[in-house]
Amino acid sequence: MSHDSEPTPLSAAPGAPLRGRLRPPGDKSISHRAMILGLLSIGETRVEGLLEGDDVLRTAAAARALGASMERLGEGRWVVRGVGIGGLSDPAETLDFGNAGTGSRLMMGVVGGQPVTATFDGDASLRSRPMRRILDPLRLMGTQVLAEAEDGRVPLTLRGPREAIPIRYETPAASAQIKSAVLLAGLNAPGTTTVIEAAATRDHTERMLRLFGAEVSVTPHGPDGHGRAVALTGQPTLRGTEVVVPADPSSAAFPLVAALIVPGSEITIEGVMMNPLRTGLITTLIEMGADIERLREREEGGETVADLRVRASRLKGVDVPAERAPAMIDEYPVLAVAAAFAHGTTRMNGLHELRVKESDRLAAVAAGLKANGVAHLIEGDDLLVHGDGAAPPGGGTVATHLDHRIAMAFLVMGLATAEPVTVDDGAMIATSFPSFLPTMQALGAGIGE
Ligand code: S3P
Repeated sequence: MSHDSEPTPLSAAPGAPLRGRLRPPGDKSISHRAMILGLLSIGETRVEGLLEGDDVLRTAAAARALGASMERLGEGRWVVRGVGIGGLSDPAETLDFGNAGTGSRLMMGVVGGQPVTATFDGDASLRSRPMRRILDPLRLMGTQVLAEAEDGRVPLTLRGPREAIPIRYETPAASAQIKSAVLLAGLNAPGTTTVIEAAATRDHTERMLRLFGAEVSVTPHGPDGHGRAVALTGQPTLRGTEVVVPADPSSAAFPLVAALIVPGSEITIEGVMMNPLRTGLITTLIEMGADIERLREREEGGETVADLRVRASRLKGVDVPAERAPAMIDEYPVLAVAAAFAHGTTRMNGLHELRVKESDRLAAVAAGLKANGVAHLIEGDDLLVHGDGAAPPGGGTVATHLDHRIAMAFLVMGLATAEPVTVDDGAMIATSFPSFLPTMQALGAGIGE
């Protein structure tokens, strides 16, 4: 499938302090959802600040194949004309989601709840990722799985019912993708679809459904109140609206950690989304002693955003509680890099979900640390990284396994190790942060081919 082209190795070398300002690209989670709800609504959805990374473009192409029409007005400015719930048509071809777990899983929820038939596929990474977590609840809602690869993986073909069956579903993992797929299928169910999650995960689907006119209630759940019950009233009329996409905190994480570990650096990262279900990395880095100031906090597109002023800092090891994982699930690779420069041991607890990301991130991070001389240990689902406050040796080549965040995390590492760090393939960076190289180079980072 996609991404069969030659790998692009990249290297990062230690150098001068990083200086300057940047605005990371639009949030990936919100960009996918804007395309999907644009498809499911009546009228025009105008999007500003869309992430034009490969993952989101795949979701846009799938929305078009299911009946939406779209126009790109300029950089990040798109208009989507939707077909409304029930108005989807069978796509003529397989929906190829490339590397995109979020796009494919959310769109499975859409197709699974509507009377259409579609085949989903993707690259080698997506073909290795578990989809049963989505197919199980969809089957309860009336979706037929007409074909699936071994063990419920893509390529797979779904056919949705005329109307979905409303369910009350407890997610088996803390996953916003599972929650979102069920809610999106529930849009075509006559009645209330409820998702119970034991720990709160990112709430962009709930927020955006409301923005488009759906009724969604969210109540605390469980003995400690950390969980959520999310209830959607089915068969609403969604109306196209305006979506302003804030800068992605998961992309901001890379220049942020780079500025902390390259001595003498000071940068400002503008317009970063501060949704508390996404800011676990910032909380953790501040506990480690990072000098991060939140400036000009304001509302943008229904989210709080801030400019982050980041200065190089002496970091110390901390214990990262498992409960924080949903709020920083994509940030562990780059946190492991920060931990390699810290004094003492950083223990990251409860990382089992990292094993089913774009790669087995726990294994990929451990291998990257090993290749660059960083002492570490995996204990069950926990990762321990040992630092002595000095720059690690570096000098290694890291296998990225088609995983953009592994590539970016270890390139950041190479900006401050004793010797340069190489990643075997940087092509996947385009899935979430297409301007990563020029953005980092503009700050003074020595990253290139
Ligand atoms: C996402 C949810 C997370 C995250 C992914 C984006 C989303 O996945 O890792 O990058 O937009 O809903 P899980 O829901 O599988 O944890």
